[in-house]
Amino acid sequence: MVPLCPFLYAQGVREKEDNMCGIIGFTGDLDAKEVLVEGLKTLEYRGYDSAGIAFLADGKIKTIKTKGKVEDLKKKVEETSSDVTKCGIGHTRWATHGGVSDINSHPHTAGKVTLIHNGIIENYQDLAAEFALEGIKPVSQTDSEIAAMVINSFYEGDPKEAIKKAVGKLRGAYAFCVMFEDVPGVIYAIRNGSPLVATHTDEGSVIASDMVALIKYSKDYFVLPEHKIATLTNDGIVVDDLDGNVVEPEMLHVNWDIAAARKGGYDYFMLKEIHEQPEALRNTIMPRIKDGIVDFGEDGVPDDIFKKCNRIVIVGCGTAMHAGLVGKNMFEKLLRVPVSVEIASEFRYADPILSEDTLVISISQSGETADTLAAVRLAKEKGATTLSIVNVKGSSIARESDYVLYTHAGPEIAVASTKAYTVQLAVIYMIAFRCAMAKGKAGADEIKDLVNELKKTITCVENVIKYDSQIETISHMLDKATNLFFIGRGLDHALSCEGSIKLKEISYIHSEAYAAGELKHGTISLITDNVPVIAIATQQAVYEKMISNVEEVRSRGAGVILITNAGVTVKPQLCDHQIILPKMDDRFAPFGTAVILQYIAYYTAVHRGLNVDQPRNLAKSVTVE
Ligand code: F6R
Repeated sequence: MVPLCPFLYAQGVREKEDNMCGIIGFTGDLDAKEVLVEGLKTLEYRGYDSAGIAFLADGKIKTIKTKGKVEDLKKKVEETSSDVTKCGIGHTRWATHGGVSDINSHPHTAGKVTLIHNGIIENYQDLAAEFALEGIKPVSQTDSEIAAMVINSFYEGDPKEAIKKAVGKLRGAYAFCVMFEDVPGVIYAIRNGSPLVATHTDEGSVIASDMVALIKYSKDYFVLPEHKIATLTNDGIVVDDLDGNVVEPEMLHVNWDIAAARKGGYDYFMLKEIHEQPEALRNTIMPRIKDGIVDFGEDGVPDDIFKKCNRIVIVGCGTAMHAGLVGKNMFEKLLRVPVSVEIASEFRYADPILSEDTLVISISQSGETADTLAAVRLAKEKGATTLSIVNVKGSSIARESDYVLYTHAGPEIAVASTKAYTVQLAVIYMIAFRCAMAKGKAGADEIKDLVNELKKTITCVENVIKYDSQIETISHMLDKATNLFFIGRGLDHALSCEGSIKLKEISYIHSEAYAAGELKHGTISLITDNVPVIAIATQQAVYEKMISNVEEVRSRGAGVILITNAGVTVKPQLCDHQIILPKMDDRFAPFGTAVILQYIAYYTAVHRGLNVDQPRNLAKSVTVE
């Protein structure tokens, strides 16, 4: 047994992954029940249908689980168990197979095996049918219990052998933490797709699906390489390949601390993360500015990839894809190179036309989104160069892309993405600047001016954050809304898409983002008295056209919130409320506008009494197709 210390693990393997749900395992000197429940609280944003723990007490594995939140689990643990335990596993669920119920909650037990699972076992029905032939029936409707049954069926006293044989039969994505009743104090883990990170300290060994659950113990950790078995004990963590050879995973370090993973006095993580945007922007932009221009030297991104590209494709999902829509505008204006922005889930099945001179830029906060990861793999297969913009260090998309530019937003815990979006905008702008220089489309002076404007976004965002109470008041206009529209032209249309998704996901109000000029081709028939319209008019080049579109909806009775750049006055009848950005170069207005839209979504959800951080049906890291 080799105790795991950061310096023992230098370079490791780089591989792929995929997931949803939060999992944690601990063995060591601490109160394991407390470690697990506290850990699950930090992981709850990954899934919050149900939660459970299993732990070793009096030579037996005991399981406590419940549908509902981790807080419900905590109560149940306090009420039903006075056991003292130093080793256990815990899970918070986002249901994929089997409804939300106590019985379907994890952990699952079969014979001597108890496990938690993150991912989807695609062939679980075939496997269940095999067991049925032998008269063995699962008690739950989950694929995870079937996985426990498969491991148990191979178990003859050697846990690693059983796991190795079992994974040979499983098809799909998984991260498992497994306990064997007759091997006390030891947790085994393996993954394919779904993420697992681990660390060992003087207090013991911890493994989890996300660094936020480990940060309390250490800033140093490793990503468990795929198809390798981790054996966790109080003394250390050993990682073996399936042939039993010891592997040394690459140690990673995070530069944020536990405060970043806590609410720190804010009502919700989302509000905290909105407020963290200036710092996130500063950390993302400033280290990459050398002599006034963008420098990706330390990121290891060479100019060659920009020089040789004749086409750019940006892929991502949801908010990340919306950041791409903003980026397209900057790229095309500066470079005159065609840029398309693709929804990753469509792109991967569309047989896209890619070649060696295509640069595929993927954008992802988590770095784990299944569709975006698949898009990156496809782009590589077709010979394109892949560059990713990712927030989570060591994540799958980061590891599998040819090049990566990290955003330095720190952990984003609210399901609705805020700070990750604005830093994605910053990085994509920086790529456009560097690419323009590399291609000789812009000189150093022009780039220096652009970089200066980019730096000003930090102060701009700082100032817009102070609009807090103004926007809270204005947002009452949406209290009773059932339907609304975001409209804009050009860059503001891209921002409308982002405003709309943010509002929908946390306030549950149906909204549509529309190119303002397009409304009159059909959709304007939905505008009647008091239907709210959030009109974004920050772009001088289309300002007058945009105002005409606002007049059109206003004259049909719409209630209008108008967002403009500074320096324009509008007649009072045009809108109910005008929100004015601090004076910015139009091309950089999206940064401030994004904050306004985030606040509108946030306060609307708060006014409706909703749980902003945990909207229904959603989870943070979407790694199912
Ligand atoms: C919306 C939101 C999602 C994510 C999307 C992609 O607020 O957070 O739309 O942007 O699921 O996630 P990542 O960026 O992790 O790939």
